[in-house]
Amino acid sequence: MAKTAVLYQSKYGSTKLYAQHIASILDADLFDLALSKGLDFEKYDTIVFGGGMYAGQINGIKFVKSNADKLSGKNLVIFTVGIGDPAVASNASVVLKAVNKALSKDLMKTMHIYSFRGTLDPSKLKFMHRMIMKMVISSLSKKKEEELTDDDRAMLQSLVSKVDFTNTAATLPLIEYVSTLK
Ligand SMILES: Cc1cc2nc3c(=O)[nH]c(=O)nc-3n(C[C@H](O)[C@H](O)[C@H](O)COP(=O)(O)O)c2cc1C
Repeated sequence: MAKTAVLYQSKYGSTKLYAQHIASILDADLFDLALSKGLDFEKYDTIVFGGGMYAGQINGIKFVKSNADKLSGKNLVIFTVGIGDPAVASNASVVLKAVNKALSKDLMKTMHIYSFRGTLDPSKLKFMHRMIMKMVISSLSKKKEEELTDDDRAMLQSLVSKVDFTNTAATLPLIEYVSTLK
């Protein structure tokens, strides 16, 4: 299997948990982008990057963007972690839009993307994050009760008490894909 680096950026720990799990199963090197100064891309054939979703943007994706030249010819796998269910088409399209915005057409052609669900604990949120979260989901409070989807309910609940959809088993397709790379 190709030599793999798993890089991540995590504000409250969900992306970190997924990155640690993926790295341990793949026996890959693990890097927290908030702590590491840079990466010796030469050493790796496969780069797995993970970032949390924040108001429709991927935390830390700038690192991938600014190192695009070093990624050419390598296997690039991106995973996102959000509270929204990635099986819901609108959530999946937000993720795709955010990746599209950040990456060149060439990288888009070759990269693989996976999305997982995370945690939100309102008691742990920084003040600004709580405000942003309120704005992100404010449109939901205008919906009638019967119009709310399970995903909408989870979003609304996350402002009141902790919701946790973390499921490391969901990383299996990503792990299987990376395992096939030479
Ligand atoms: C300010 C804020 C904005 C968020 N925006 C989104 C979003 O647009 N889509 C989503 O699915 N989840 C969103 N979330 C939920 C986070 O993605 C989720 O809590 C995730 O587990 C964070 O991962 P991290 O702790 O590794 O950074 C948001 C959370 C906060 C606090």
